[in-house]
Amino acid sequence: MPDITLTTLNKLKQSGEKFACLTAYDALFAHLQSSAGVELLLIGDSLGMVLQGHDTTLPVTVEDMEYHTRAVKRGNQGALIMSDLPFMTCATLERALDASTRLMQAGAHVVKLEGAGWLAETISVLTRNGIPVCAHLGLTPQSVNVTGGYKVQGREETQARELLADAIALEQAGAALLLLECVPSSLAAEITRSVSIPVIGIGAGPDTDGQMLVMHDMLGLSTTGRLARFVRNFMPGQPDIPSAFKAYVAAVKAGEFPAAEHEF
Ligand code: KIV
Ligand code: NA
Repeated sequence: MPDITLTTLNKLKQSGEKFACLTAYDALFAHLQSSAGVELLLIGDSLGMVLQGHDTTLPVTVEDMEYHTRAVKRGNQGALIMSDLPFMTCATLERALDASTRLMQAGAHVVKLEGAGWLAETISVLTRNGIPVCAHLGLTPQSVNVTGGYKVQGREETQARELLADAIALEQAGAALLLLECVPSSLAAEITRSVSIPVIGIGAGPDTDGQMLVMHDMLGLSTTGRLARFVRNFMPGQPDIPSAFKAYVAAVKAGEFPAAEHEF
C-alpha cells in the first residue's frame, strides 16, 4: 500500500485541502516528485507525445504503459499511482479488463479512462473486481480525430449540462476519482461541488480538489518553447528540479496555482 490512498484523497476533499498531482514516467522523477510531496503520480499516455515524439496519444500501447508504470512504481515514495488505459482499450469490456489487470499488476493503484456516460458499465465492472477508476472528462485527447483538435470543452450550456450529468452518472457507477481537462472554471467548480468523489483538474481552474500538470510543461520544457495557457513554469527562481516540484506542491496547497491567467 502507498502512504497516500483514495481514503487520503477523500479526506483532503472533505477538509478542503488541495492536493497536487503530476505526470511521471520513470523511476528517478517519480522518486523526486513523491519525495517533494506530490500526492498522486499519473503515468499518462501523454508519454506518447513527450517521450516518444508522436503528435497524438493514439500510438501508445498497453505494453508501453506497463513499462513506465513499473519504472514509476520502483521510484515512488508513497504517492498514489494512476495509469492511463491507452487508446481503444475501453472499446470492449474484455479489453478494458485485460488492460486494467496488466496495469494494476505493473504497479498502478488506480486506472484512468477517457470517456463519458457510456463507460458507466465498464467502470462498475472494474470497480467490482477491485480496480478503482478515474473517469477523465472534458478534453479527451484520444478522441482528437473526432473533436477536430485540442479545444476547451463545455463552453456551451448544453455541453456543460451533459458534462455535469456524466460526472454524476460516473460517480454513481462507482468511479473513485474524476479528472476534468480544459473546461471553464465555473463548470469545474459546479461539478466538484456536485459529486462527493475527489475531482482533479488540469486547465479547469482553482476550485477542483486536486491539480494536475504534465511534468515537462511545469518544468518549462517544450519543443516549441511555448506552453499552454493553463500551464505555469515552476523553474524560474528555483535552484533545481526538486525545488520546482516543491514549489508546485506549495502553490497548489496555498491556492496560488492556478491563478486567473491560467483559467478558461
Ligand atoms: O496523459 C496525460 O498526461 C493525462 C493528463 C494530461 C491528465 O491524461
Ligand atoms: Na492521458
